Amino acid sequence: MLAIEGLHIDLPSAGGRSRVVRGVDLTVEAGETVAIVGESGSGKSLTALSIMNLLPRGAKRRAERLSFANRDLSSLSARQMEDLRGREIGMIFQDPAASFNPTLTIGRQLEEVHIRHCRKGRQIARDRAVELMEMVGMPAASTRLSQYPSELSGGLRQRAMIAMALMCEPSMLIADEPTTALDVTVQAQVLKLLDELRKRTGIAIMVITHDLGVVASVADRVAVMYAGEIVETGRTRDVLATPQHPYTKGLFACVPRIGSGTAPRPGPGAQRLPTISGRIPDRVKLAAGCIFADRCDHVVDPCRAEDIPLVARSSGHADRCLRAAEMQVAHHG
Ligand SMILES: Nc1ncnc2c1ncn2[C@@H]1O[C@H](COP(=O)(O)OP(=O)(O)OP(=O)(O)O)[C@@H](O)[C@H]1O
Ligand SMILES: [Mg+2]
Repeated sequence: MLAIEGLHIDLPSAGGRSRVVRGVDLTVEAGETVAIVGESGSGKSLTALSIMNLLPRGAKRRAERLSFANRDLSSLSARQMEDLRGREIGMIFQDPAASFNPTLTIGRQLEEVHIRHCRKGRQIARDRAVELMEMVGMPAASTRLSQYPSELSGGLRQRAMIAMALMCEPSMLIADEPTTALDVTVQAQVLKLLDELRKRTGIAIMVITHDLGVVASVADRVAVMYAGEIVETGRTRDVLATPQHPYTKGLFACVPRIGSGTAPRPGPGAQRLPTISGRIPDRVKLAAGCIFADRCDHVVDPCRAEDIPLVARSSGHADRCLRAAEMQVAHHG
């Protein structure tokens, strides 16, 4: 459904151009959920925004391949892109303010999306809005539709945002931190909803999250981003069970093991990824070599000598660590 190859994004910065995303490859098949994880500032949102051509002003995007349903996204006009965005790709933004117009009611905005992109008339759009608000577990759905975005709590606004993204039954959903403002119960409902939707309609889902619980419960595959690069990728169960890259290992270290029976603490952000000491490198003057070298406990001279490619260790499980194989052997005696 979606294929990204060799994606680079540069942003203007004080010292020149900052290379915030470098050489990202990512695919999402129909009916598949792929998660992107990584600490703050690693380039997850920019990667998602670049697909829809929604990057901040001054940003430069280039890619060897950027295709959706076999169409080349980089050749679409602004008009075609906007059409695609409403009808075929639903997007849940990290910043809810970016999704809603504060001066229009929620209902009006949901209806407009439908009328504009599905062209079926006001009454059908209204029915669809009620249906979706109920589907995302919105209490008193029809009453909520006459309210303004500011009248809803963060959690309800997030549900309305999900409803809006799904108005035209898109074939792909890009969800940037879709459950962060939700309490655990609602979060579980929303995740269940997305999973049912995927099974029922074969929608392709890209989900960006800090929450390993989300990854474990919905993602078929996961890509771990660090400082603008994918440092590890693979099937969720493989990456969670045997992380290869020291960054991934660090990221997972403080999290209760999935399925270990340890009850996660309730509340939003309960399983947020821990922070690893040190700073993300300055991306204006990037040195050659492994991008994680300065923060890595296992660094050796060759790590700094040249850029490290993404190498597959087993089917679909790949990482950018020069020493992954060696450390794996050491670990198993
Ligand atoms: N509008 C912008 N103007 C300037 N710099 C930006 C802008 N948006 C993002 N950046 C920078 O680009 C880098 C990647 O940002 P991005 O938002 O993709 O990170 P992220 O992985 O989504 O982080 P988070 O988990 O905090 O959402 C960061 O260094 C950020 O400071
Ligand atoms: Mg983000």
